[in-house]
Amino acid sequence: MVTLKRLFVAACIIVLAAQLVRPTIDNPPVKADFSGPADVKAILQRACYNCHSNQTELAWFDKIVPAYWIVAGHVEDGRAVLNFSDWDSLPAAVRKGKLFECLNQMTFNTMPLGSYTAVHHEGRISGEDLATLRAYLLTLPAPNLADTARSGAAMRQFAAWRLSPSAATPPISLNGIAFPTGFEDWEVLATSERWDNGTLRVILANPTAMRAFRNGHTNPWPDSSTFAKIAWDASADTAGHIEAGEFKQVEFMIKDRVKYKSTGGWGWARWVKGLALQPYGKTAAFTSECLNCHAPMKDRDLFFSLPPAPVAPTDGYRVIATSVSHGLTSTLMGDAPAATAARSGRPYPDGSNLFLVTWTQKEDPHWFGANIPADTLRTVRVTVGSSAMNALTDSILTMRPSVLP
Ligand code: HEC
Ligand code: HEC
Repeated sequence: MVTLKRLFVAACIIVLAAQLVRPTIDNPPVKADFSGPADVKAILQRACYNCHSNQTELAWFDKIVPAYWIVAGHVEDGRAVLNFSDWDSLPAAVRKGKLFECLNQMTFNTMPLGSYTAVHHEGRISGEDLATLRAYLLTLPAPNLADTARSGAAMRQFAAWRLSPSAATPPISLNGIAFPTGFEDWEVLATSERWDNGTLRVILANPTAMRAFRNGHTNPWPDSSTFAKIAWDASADTAGHIEAGEFKQVEFMIKDRVKYKSTGGWGWARWVKGLALQPYGKTAAFTSECLNCHAPMKDRDLFFSLPPAPVAPTDGYRVIATSVSHGLTSTLMGDAPAATAARSGRPYPDGSNLFLVTWTQKEDPHWFGANIPADTLRTVRVTVGSSAMNALTDSILTMRPSVLP
């Protein structure tokens, strides 16, 4: 009995003493607080400000060690990636991007952290909160798709690319990943139109990934499955037809459960600044951004773009161009001779094959801010030199190829 009592006293002393080991959480001055509408701000203040602002207000139970240690870590990490107290000093496009990310994280209960809402009931997000935020996001200025200066830049980039399609191999990514050469010949897995930031995207899968997709082995994807996502500025003409304008960036996810264990089993890499293909980020820790934004897909191996069926009719078709027109989205693909010709500015050789798939669009259920293909509306195949020519086949043969890295 005496020993038990002693143990209990000793434990109490340890717990009490531990209370003194306290990293400080101070509230630095608020420089540029979020200045959006009051109803939106109220949601962020209630559910996010404790970790994402300089106005942290801890509850009494947050202040007890060891909970306090965890809370202090969350506040430090949370402020580092997103701080509403510096909000109005960020460029408008960055603010908009972060808000879309916030909404999507809230929709999938990724944010606020579950460990937080379990005890902080005021931080729970309701359907009404989501609707309020969504309505606000729709009032933010849309990206300017028809900017003529930009389309001038797109034409210059196109001309330069046609002159020398393959530049020198880009430098390795900051986390040590080498630029995966030859990916432009992988099959098309999916496409998306991102109206939140005014880009068109095509997602390509390497042969391992494509085989896994066809066999339904996508959760998890097998090791060495690799995906490339290519992004272009969306460029609209006066009739509202949107095509791939300037090539902006290409990014990759490379599956290796052992090698990339610390980053969700994926190697993440991105090259930016158009054809200059500059490795993205300031330090190797840029991958936390990728992981955080893909976190809502944690139950499907952090993967967004899983279409119901493969896009390409057969192996070996390669992407040539992508476009969106009045609620329809199309991707032009070609066999190897057709793709090679398109990419080097030569006419399609006789006997080469082109394939245009057109889908109706739907909202991406996993990303408010994107439209993705819904149902296949039409597939048109052209064999150069032997298909009957009409307005449609003619328009296919004259489509401008999208610039590829
Ligand atoms: C209990 C603390 C906590 C609360 C409350 C919280 N977050 Fe977070 N949040 C974090 C932490 C920790 C990270 C991850 C930082 C890291 O490790 O990179 C994070 C990351 C994020 C990111 C990723 C940012 C980036 O660029 O990587 C977004 C977006 C985000 N939170 C939005 C929200 C929103 C919106 C709310 C409120 C609805 C919220 N969070 C509430 C702790 C919190
Ligand atoms: C702000 C959110 C966000 C961030 C940050 C982000 N992604 Fe993504 N990512 C998406 C969305 C949404 C998709 C689905 C396709 C689309 O609509 O663009 C996607 C898709 C992808 C794909 C295609 C496979 C898939 O999951 O659909 C790759 C590859 C990819 N991202 C790589 C990266 C890399 C590398 C980084 C970090 C450098 C990164 N992503 C950061 C939101 C994000």
